[in-house]
Formats: sequence, structure tokens, C-alpha cells
Amino acid sequence: MVALELYAAMKARRSIRKFKPDPVPRELIARILEMATWSPSGLNWQQWHFLVVTGPKKDELARSYGRIVEFGMPPAGQRNPQQEGFLQWAKTLGGAPVAIVALSPAHGQPGTRKMNLESVASAFSHLLLAATNEGLGTCWMTGPLDNEPELRKVLALPDDKEIVAVTPLGYPAESPAAAPRKSLDEVVTWIGF
Ligand SMILES: Cc1cc2nc3c(=O)[nH]c(=O)nc-3n(C[C@H](O)[C@H](O)[C@H](O)COP(=O)(O)O)c2cc1C
Repeated sequence: MVALELYAAMKARRSIRKFKPDPVPRELIARILEMATWSPSGLNWQQWHFLVVTGPKKDELARSYGRIVEFGMPPAGQRNPQQEGFLQWAKTLGGAPVAIVALSPAHGQPGTRKMNLESVASAFSHLLLAATNEGLGTCWMTGPLDNEPELRKVLALPDDKEIVAVTPLGYPAESPAAAPRKSLDEVVTWIGF
């Protein structure tokens, strides 16, 4: 792939919060996951593990996130359309047919934990870009972790795993405008130039 194509995919990725119900073929999901595994990882431990969730478990995961979002909102009847829209997205994951949950090994030592989390986050970023390349929508989410005990129960997670992020996966039913980006001047300090 020439650099420009990669750059185009990087700029085309959006957080998608509305999906078509069409199923995503398992082979396609596997291809995206395989691309994610080309991420660098600390000590090449390839710390990632991915749960690919569909059906009632995915619905349960969405409902858990919905309750978190609803908790932080005014009661029904007092919400503006934007809040209602966001709640609808949360409760259903925008109707996505699949959710992917990225896991890292739970580790007590802070340096190792950081290395593990960064490795899995990097793979997750690869996953999102590969999905974009396949015309699929995603949305990096950590909001569902705000009730991590419930999410762990839904997914029957063992104690030796930590949840890093969740994304819905499916064919987009919206094409949102790009969210604004800060200028390089705001986020870069050049040292020694
Ligand atoms: C670490 C992280 C956590 C996020 N958590 C959520 C989330 O819980 N719910 C959600 O709707 N979007 C979530 N997002 C998506 C961001 O809102 C989105 O990336 C940002 O607004 C920029 O938009 P873009 O992804 O379309 O470029 C998260 C993104 C990141 C990187």
C-alpha cells in the first residue's frame, strides 16, 4: 500500500454511531482482527485478546452501556433531542450487529500494566483502520467500562483479564463530518530543531 492510501484511510475513519443491520461475514471480521495483530507490542508479547460478540450477549453489553449513559442524563421527558439520540446509540450500539471487546492481561506491576495496555490499544487502533479499509464502521469506546463489574459479568471475564476498549462493528448507516482537530502548533513541541 502506498502511503497516500494509508493516509486516506486514516482520515476517512470516523466514530460511527448508526449501523445497518446487515451481518458482517465472519471471514471479514477475521481479516480485520488479523490486521490488528500486525501491531507492535511490548516485548512482542502480543498481549491482546479479542472477544467478538453478537446476539443476546451483544444486546446485554449495549443495555449495560445504555444504563451508564442514562444515569448521567436528565430524566425522560426533560432530555433534548441530542441527548435522546446519544442514549439511543448507547442502548443499542447504534444497531451494530457485532461488538468487539479488546482485553489485556491484568498485571499488578504498573510498568508492565502500562506496556500491556499500550500494546492492546495499538492493536485496537490497527483494527479500527482495517475496518475502515473494508468499508466497516467502528467507534472506540471506554464508556462501557464505567460499570466494569457489570460488563465483566456479562462477558464472564476471568480475573486475569482487563478490558481495554469496546467497539461496535458493522456497515455504517451514517457518514458524519470529521470532528475538528487541534492544530499541530497546539500539540507539538519541537526540541533541538
Ligand atoms: C479512548 C477513547 C474512548 C472513547 N469512548 C467513547 C465512548 O465511550 N462512547 C462514544 O460514543 N465515543 C467514544 N469515543 C469516540 C470519541 O468520541 C471520538 O473518537 C472523537 O469524538 C473523535 O471523533 P472521530 O473518532 O470520528 O474522529 C472514544 C474514543 C477514544 C479514543
